[in-house]
Amino acid sequence: MEKIGILTGGGDCPGLNAVIRAVVRRSLALGNDVLGIKNGWAGLVQGFVEPLTYFSVSGILPRGGTILGTSRTNPFKEVEQIQKLKSNWQKFGLNCLVAVGGEDTLGVAHKLFKQEGYPIVGVPKTIDNDLAGTDYTFGFDTAVQIVTEAIDRLHTTAESHKRVMVVEVMGRNAGWIATYSGMAGGADCILVPEKKFNVDDVCALIRKRIDRGREFAIVVVAEGATPDETHQVLTKGGHVDEFGHAQLGGIGDWLGKQIEHKTGIETRVTVLGHVQRGGTPTAYDRVLATRFGIKAVELIREKQFGYMASLRGTEIVAVPIEEALNQKLLDPKVFDDASVFFG
Ligand code: F6P
Repeated sequence: MEKIGILTGGGDCPGLNAVIRAVVRRSLALGNDVLGIKNGWAGLVQGFVEPLTYFSVSGILPRGGTILGTSRTNPFKEVEQIQKLKSNWQKFGLNCLVAVGGEDTLGVAHKLFKQEGYPIVGVPKTIDNDLAGTDYTFGFDTAVQIVTEAIDRLHTTAESHKRVMVVEVMGRNAGWIATYSGMAGGADCILVPEKKFNVDDVCALIRKRIDRGREFAIVVVAEGATPDETHQVLTKGGHVDEFGHAQLGGIGDWLGKQIEHKTGIETRVTVLGHVQRGGTPTAYDRVLATRFGIKAVELIREKQFGYMASLRGTEIVAVPIEEALNQKLLDPKVFDDASVFFG
């Protein structure tokens, strides 16, 4: 019998509870114990844990967020924290750990495995879908669904008022959410972090559309997109998290003002923010997250530590956690397909 720990770290994501449920149900069925570690790596540093039972995971499959809580704690920031983490690992009698997270959480997992020899497996997550090593991350499909629904709603009001609607969506380094939801919602222009944009080109697309007799437009902009005149993404204040990431935001407002000023067309801005991360996961994300959870337990059984569950085509396979530490930027072909409908 093994004692398996599980934690969820970084920004929350619809489908995390499905992973937890799968890991717990599969592990218990195989005769293991599962210890839930609260609030990401912080729980292991502070010794904040709870045993997970069939009862703990009952009814959580359709729930957003994570029953374990999450944080952006980096235990490698201070030597003292890593020492506490190690002594708690021993105190709780952990045999291995499932770390569910994005590049930061998995970065810590990889370091603990590689440098310190800790038996850890990973499950990749982010609504941004920008982790290398897997075709898709769970949470992305739900975010795209939420944004698409919002674009559909903005369409009717934009058309009635003959306005430009700018929609700012998440996507720190990659424009997956912007491009998929923009394509699904019929956006007239999509701006992504991978491709600097020119405001005059955006205005030209809007004018082209108006010349065709369509007197409104939808512009989707990822929070990490930048105009070609600057190299800096817009942030909210100077605060950075323990992994050095600033809180992004503001490009939508900036762009809206520019468009209104340059075209003279009334423009409104909607920032979808954390709505994109909240609420119930889609069926696709529930299935992907469940399959990832089952695979994580299989990796433990096979002692494939340092590996994570990954989607390749339709198969769930094992890949080194290290692979997820690279960024998976938007496929340019997908963006080209979306841009066929610009203007
Ligand atoms: O990484 C996922 C993500 O949702 C990014 O798209 C976004 O920039 C960030 O998290 C927001 O983080 P927070 O919840 O800390 O504001």
